[in-house]
Amino acid sequence: MNAPDAERLVLGIETSCDETAAAVVRGGRTVLSNVIASQHDLHSEYRGVVPEIASRAHAERVLPVVRRALAEAGVDLRGVHAVAVGNRPGLIGSLLVGVGAAKGLAWALGVPVVGVDHVQAHLVAGCIGPAGAEPAPVRWPALGLVASGGHTSMYVCGSPTRAVRIGATIDDAVGEAYDKVATILGLPFPGGPELDRLAQTGRAHRPGFPLARIAPDSLDFSFSGLKTAALYAFCGVPESPQARARREARGEPEHGPTMNAADVAATFQEAAVSAVVLKVQRALDRRPDCRALLVGGGVSANSLLRQRLLALGEARGVEVRLPRMEYCLDNAAMVAALGHAILAARDWRGDDWSMTASPSTAFCAGPSGTGAP
Ligand code: KG4
Ligand code: ZN
Repeated sequence: MNAPDAERLVLGIETSCDETAAAVVRGGRTVLSNVIASQHDLHSEYRGVVPEIASRAHAERVLPVVRRALAEAGVDLRGVHAVAVGNRPGLIGSLLVGVGAAKGLAWALGVPVVGVDHVQAHLVAGCIGPAGAEPAPVRWPALGLVASGGHTSMYVCGSPTRAVRIGATIDDAVGEAYDKVATILGLPFPGGPELDRLAQTGRAHRPGFPLARIAPDSLDFSFSGLKTAALYAFCGVPESPQARARREARGEPEHGPTMNAADVAATFQEAAVSAVVLKVQRALDRRPDCRALLVGGGVSANSLLRQRLLALGEARGVEVRLPRMEYCLDNAAMVAALGHAILAARDWRGDDWSMTASPSTAFCAGPSGTGAP
């Protein structure tokens, strides 16, 4: 393998949840193709991802999706220099389909295979682009924010491959809260984008839903209280028969619904986004050496979050790396990009063939995580 790093082609494969995705990325930053086969239609009647259905759909789709990614990139399979696969965290059956495909292809081609962390891959989504539109290299160290359906965390990143987690949600991920509130409001699955759209037609009530006060200086997040506030505002406060009798004896009216769906959406969105931006502000205060903010995960597609983070970056002189819309949700281009960075840092030595899938992340569980920047 004697192509220079900037010319090497990495085939990325992503199957951690309900998107079967494959991509070809050149030099770790130029996306030649980015194919995503979503399974939303298969899971919508259950209002959540059904693991067994997801694994079967990945098994049917993974090779056709890889073939399409190669064809769209105009690349022959034998021209691929390495295969990267998201092997953690996620649904174990789904991950195993991608890992099996990646190892089989790499073995047959005689090229290295590398398993990458899906959450860490979201952090590089703002560093890639199609040919001619690649973002400039990032200035390290950078602050990282992953806001997705499974994770809401912040990191200090020394490079694409080295990060230390400095904050995380203590209950729901922000995307999960979006999806649950969308269900309360009767919106179709997955609810995040639908709620985002509905919020734009509503009015955020003042003072609004309460922000969780974990500790005055904490960088952790909490979204489960917001979900309850949305439920009570839209459906009313549930009451036991005893509480009802006491209230009626006092002659007080019942605590019924106080907001329509659009206003709940707008009020929830305002509170959820404000909570995220507040913690990013705190992290920037604490780490003035970070002159860039890397953002990733499905919720980085949110209109209000994008707007507020850009405004914060402008006010602080911090470069905000929002991914292009096609790299916000789960995709394999970010997996290939991170795989390239990992392989380049270790002279293109692949993982051992015993590399396998894991449902949990091993990525920077704390200051003792995978390498302080
Ligand atoms: O990163 P992702 O595709 O999967 C995980 O790794 O979890 O994120 C999916 C999440 C879902 O919760 C989805 O509702 C949310 O991202 N999402 C949004 C928007 N688009 C997707 N949430 C709020 N506003 C959006 N526009
Ligand atoms: Zn994701």
